[in-house]
Amino acid sequence: MNLSKEFRSGGKSVWALKEVNMNVHSSAAAVIGPNGAGKTTLLKIVATLIEPTEGDVLVNGLSVTREPKEVRRSLGLMTVSDRVFYFRLSGMENLIFYASLYHLSLAEAKSRARELLSMVGLEEWGNVQVMKYSLGMMRRLALARALIHDPLVLLLDEPTLGVDVVSARKMREIIRELSREKVILFTSHYMKDVEEIASNIYLIKEGRIVERGDPRSLKSKYAIVEAAVPRDSLPQRMARYVVEERDGNLILRAPVEEIDGLEVEWKRRVDTSLEDVYVALVGEGKMDVRTYQNRRRGGWGRQ
Ligand SMILES: Nc1ncnc2c1ncn2[C@@H]1O[C@H](COP(=O)(O)OP(=O)(O)OP(=O)(O)O)[C@@H](O)[C@H]1O
Ligand SMILES: [Mg+2]
Repeated sequence: MNLSKEFRSGGKSVWALKEVNMNVHSSAAAVIGPNGAGKTTLLKIVATLIEPTEGDVLVNGLSVTREPKEVRRSLGLMTVSDRVFYFRLSGMENLIFYASLYHLSLAEAKSRARELLSMVGLEEWGNVQVMKYSLGMMRRLALARALIHDPLVLLLDEPTLGVDVVSARKMREIIRELSREKVILFTSHYMKDVEEIASNIYLIKEGRIVERGDPRSLKSKYAIVEAAVPRDSLPQRMARYVVEERDGNLILRAPVEEIDGLEVEWKRRVDTSLEDVYVALVGEGKMDVRTYQNRRRGGWGRQ
């Protein structure tokens, strides 16, 4: 791979990806990271929608730069945009249209569409125009569309974005089930998605992979301690770890080694969540520790 992507516009240059290497062989891998980190750019390159500035990606042994057509046949893509649908057509008609692009016969297309609509829980909405779908329904239709030609590789950009709690749970179940037979690369800002779906995680920040691993090993590597620190003695660099205030103390959740050396009222080992790992790795530390300290003086916090 060694993938890099530069965007140039108005004389400015942005490296959205820088020397990215990953290897996804089976089940589901999650790409996580802050807004603008390069996640969608990565998926777009793998999907052959944009070309890398440097490097290449092999999908099922095929090069995205040299054999984009062949690559497209073996992958399905779910994007964040809903512009992929014809709003005046029904969900069923949209799926049949996309099936025809992959040269399925009408009969095959219909039965495949019906099967997928039922898989994503839209069987009763198949004949309704897409313009009448809610956001969550549109996301589910987008997943069905990505699967229309039964691709081996699935790319899902924020599959649960805007999806309600129960539907998101259903969506995670579907994706997890799919990951048994397909190779899935997905992005999400929801750690619950990552926790439940991904067997591997790639964390990217400013276009570079800053950490990778399976959820369990990442959680043990960044094992978290909860500690209470007197409000006035909290160093600025620790501000990002504050989770609440209690009895004049700030309660932190931070990696063990970060807590070492701090003046603490008490500390205890707790279960580490992926969110803790994420904060430890990408938390910007922009939050100003004085915000907490001023609260007491300003009189709007607890006295
Ligand atoms: N077509 C483009 N032209 C110029 N810059 C772009 C283009 N597409 C993306 N970028 C820039 O590339 C960087 C990565 O964007 P990208 O959309 O990949 O981020 P992301 O990780 O998907 O973010 P988010 O979590 O907000 O979806 C950003 O700095 C973005 O502004
Ligand atoms: Mg994105």
